[in-house]
Amino acid sequence: MQHLINLSDLSADDIHALFDRAEVLARQERLEPSLEGRHIANLFFEPSTRTRVSFELAARSLGGSVVNLDVQNSSFTKGETLVDTYRTLEAMGIDAFVVRTAQPGVIQDLGRVVGRNVAVFNAGEGDAAHPTQGLLDALTIRQHKGNFDQLSIAIVGDVSHSRVARSTLRALSILGCQDLRIVAPAAWQPPAQQMPQVVITDNLEMGIQGCDVVMALRIQNERLRNSERLDRDQYVSHFCITQQRLAAAKNDAIVMHPGPINRAIEIADEVADGPQSVILRQVSNGVTIRRALFDTVARSRGWFDS
Ligand code: NCD
Repeated sequence: MQHLINLSDLSADDIHALFDRAEVLARQERLEPSLEGRHIANLFFEPSTRTRVSFELAARSLGGSVVNLDVQNSSFTKGETLVDTYRTLEAMGIDAFVVRTAQPGVIQDLGRVVGRNVAVFNAGEGDAAHPTQGLLDALTIRQHKGNFDQLSIAIVGDVSHSRVARSTLRALSILGCQDLRIVAPAAWQPPAQQMPQVVITDNLEMGIQGCDVVMALRIQNERLRNSERLDRDQYVSHFCITQQRLAAAKNDAIVMHPGPINRAIEIADEVADGPQSVILRQVSNGVTIRRALFDTVARSRGWFDS
């Protein structure tokens, strides 16, 4: 593994190997410094709390140094192209780029222009992909539920604008999940032909019926066109995950949300903070999975020989 740009580059075995590595590293008291002497640049052209901090903590825990480009005060605002920004940072000795952007395709392009010794990690690409989120969600599900092929999993909310939904569904289907469901108002359902293996409904109780995992999504207000804006109270009355509605899922179902949460809109406090919620476990798995990813890439690039 040299980069992580698309999940479709990974097999089920690759993903399980990454999860196993993540769990080994999580148990180790002292980590081998597989990023020692390496410089990681965080380039976030969209807001982030969890993803940026967890990439940074993960890199530091392996001995890497981290530069957070202050995009608002960078030459990007003077009209410098993204590729020129990358080349400039690469010339200063950056070994890996962690990139979040609103523009689909840009991270793929970067993977083609960076030097052979430079790694690229996709930290969220418009509404198209968020591969490390897909991985941390699947790791969280494996930790709580084990085998993927027997599980029923529902993703609820603004699916059509969500890169998380795309990457998490991609990860789960690579891992062999057979029963994947989308619960969304008609305006936020992806075209059925885009996801032929997924059942799509606008009925929450039916959609989560008997599920092992229920994942709510944030409404992507920044990506909605005016015609796609829905009445908030209507949304809450049909799709907000309350304890009462959750009763349709299995008794031991886990509840997930990638964050940031709009409380009482996407998910009720009693559920977000309740015993079935694994939302903070997702957050800590964000560090766990990104550390395993850095470690795996560092070793496969020969940056570190143990
Ligand atoms: C997500 C994102 O940025 O796509 N956040 C995250 O990385 N945990 C989800 C969101 O913003 O809705």
